This record gives sequence, C-alpha cells and structure tokens, in this order.
Amino acid sequence: MVKVAVLGATGYTALEAIKILLRHPQAEIVAVTSRQEGNTPVSSVHPSLVGRLDLPLEDLSPEEVGTRADCVFGCLPHCASAEILPRVLAAGAKVVDFSADYRLDDPTTYLEWYGHEHPDAGRLGTTVYGLPELFRDRIRGASLVANPGCYSTSAILPLAPLIKSGLFELDDIIIDSKSGVSGAGRQPKLMTHFPECNESMSAYNVGRHRHTPEIEQVIGRHAAVRPTVIFTPQLAPMDRGILSTIYIRPIKPIAEGDVMAMLREAYDGERFVRVVDHLPGTKDTVDTNFCDITARVVRGRVLLLSCLDNLVKGAAGAAVQNLNVLFNLPETMGLL
Ligand SMILES: NC(=O)c1ccc[n+]([C@@H]2O[C@H](COP(=O)([O-])OP(=O)(O)OC[C@H]3O[C@@H](n4cnc5c(N)ncnc54)[C@H](OP(=O)(O)O)[C@@H]3O)[C@@H](O)[C@H]2O)c1
Repeated sequence: MVKVAVLGATGYTALEAIKILLRHPQAEIVAVTSRQEGNTPVSSVHPSLVGRLDLPLEDLSPEEVGTRADCVFGCLPHCASAEILPRVLAAGAKVVDFSADYRLDDPTTYLEWYGHEHPDAGRLGTTVYGLPELFRDRIRGASLVANPGCYSTSAILPLAPLIKSGLFELDDIIIDSKSGVSGAGRQPKLMTHFPECNESMSAYNVGRHRHTPEIEQVIGRHAAVRPTVIFTPQLAPMDRGILSTIYIRPIKPIAEGDVMAMLREAYDGERFVRVVDHLPGTKDTVDTNFCDITARVVRGRVLLLSCLDNLVKGAAGAAVQNLNVLFNLPETMGLL
C-alpha cells in the first residue's frame, strides 16, 4: 500500500484526487490538510465524500506530512507550493506537485511569467515534467514530479509528435483553448462568478497566460530551436473540460492521413491518449483520464483538436498516473 497525503484538500483538484485514490487498490489516504478547516471532517467541506472518507482535515506541518506519507499530492497554489514542498521532500516522501512551481527549468522565466522570485530556485531544472507519455523513464526514479498544467497537456500531447518529426514550422503555432470554470479553482473570483460566466464565453490573459512558456519549453525538447506559440485561453460556460484547437504549418504540404499516422504511431500502446477519427468533444473525456486527439488538414495548415478533463488528465488523474509510475504499479491502476 502506498500511503498518500493530500495537501490543500479543500480544493477542487484535491477532491478529484481523493475520489480517484478511494478506488485505487494500492493507495491509502493517510492525511488531508487544510489551513482553515482544521479538525472538521473532510466530508463536511466536500459532501460527496460522506460515507466514503472519514478523515478530519488537519493543519499539519510539512514535516508531519512527509513522515506520515510515502507520497504527497501538493494541491496548492503556486508559490505556496515551493515554500512547503522542500520540507516535505526533506522528511522523506515523494511529491507530485499540482502547481506550476516546478514545471519551468529557468528561474528567470519563472520570474518573468509569475512576477516573483522562485522560493526554491535551486531545484528548477532538476525536476521531471510529469507527462508519462513523454517522460516515463525519468519519472520512475524521481522524488519530485511537476504535474503538468491542464491546458499544457491538451496542447503538448498532440503537438509533440509533430514537432519531433521536423516537418513543421516552429514559429507559427497557434493554440486556441476553451476551459470549464473549475480550471480556476474553488476560490471565488469575479470572472468565475455565476452571472459573469454563465451563458457567456470570454478570452482572458491573452498573450500572457502562464502555460505559454511551459508549452514552449516542453515541445522545445523535441526541436533544434525553441518553438514559439500564441496561446489564447477562453472560459467556457461548463463545469469542467478543455477543448484545444491547434494550428501548425507544415514546411511542405502534408496529407491528413500522414499526420494521423504520426499521432497513432506516437501513442500506440498509450492507454490514456486516444487518437480518434471523429472530432472530439469535452463530454467524451469528462471524469476520465483520457486525452482525445485528432487532426485535419485545412488549406495547407494542420489543425490538431484535443480534449480532456482539466481536473483528471489535466490534474488529479495525471497525478495518480505519476504515482503509479513512481511506485512501480500498473500505470492504469485506479484510473479506468
Ligand atoms: N483546477 C484545475 O483544473 C487545475 C488543473 C491543473 C493544475 N491545477 C493547479 O493545482 C493547484 C490546485 O488547484 P485547485 O484548482 O485545486 O485550487 P483550489 O480549488 O483553489 O484549492 C487550493 C487549496 O490550497 C489551499 N491553499 C490556498 N492558499 C494556500 C497557501 N498560501 N498555503 C497553503 N495552502 C493554501 C486552500 O485550502 P485551505 O484554504 O483550506 O488551506 C485551497 O483549498 C493550483 O496550483 C492549480 O494551478 C489546477
């Protein structure tokens, strides 16, 4: 049994992680933490857990968490994460960080996009990006895994095989993504207030969303020069799910069948990436750890379409997939 602690257990990604861990035959939840709700049952904050998990929320020190658990899920906001997780690691637990704190390799890029110095800058560049489909071997021996961003996964999985092929322009990649409102977390904000976002769609953080450098960094590992992307996130009036439409220009004309073959070959044997012929919709992947991908060629451009559940393949499901890799368990355990 892998003993798992969930930090920030009052949040959305934590709830999703708890639900998956409860049906995982080799995981036992040993602690759920909260700064504000200490000593109340976790099911009083998340009523869907009534009768399923009896643990109280606790305001534990990072050392207590790292001693009690074999694996810690850090479901915390960025910055808070990098202040707490080094002490959890020092206490001996493995960590899957849901936040963006350990995804970027370079402290200067972190400062530029996150607007403050990284609290644990020395560790940047040494951590592994938790996308098993691309970095499984490195995850296996890691102590700290940087779980990918939800938008990032929806863009990186379809793009990586094409970038690797060397057949595409690297300076003309457009990613247009729509996300459900749970992507913004449980903390109330004006933008996610019901009358603001219901029956309405709007773009936000145009040209400055923080997943931009993350996507460029990861797909850049498969290219001679670093690609540049234009990434436009939009809020869609739904609870969960992401649909990304990606436009990329081939250097020479390419047939749709060849792009589909490239995607199929890349993800042959990958249980959680489904290369599909139809145009995927978010409902196909809600509550699952799948990312569905397809491709079309339109007027010479390749369009990649992908969808996933931001709280599952975009967060908690990916974290459990990483836990399975870290502890040598079947990668699909608890996830199908
Ligand atoms: N939502 C998504 O779809 C999604 C997808 C991928 C990645 N992520 C990332 O995953 C992390 C968690 O996201 P979420 O959506 O679950 O957020 P959330 O719903 O806002 O929950 C975060 C939890 O962290 C705790 N917290 C807040 N500030 C803290 C601090 N300064 N120190 C310690 N604990 C603090 C809060 O619990 P208490 O107040 O009870 O302590 C809160 O419930 C974020 O970094 C987010 O960017 C989210």
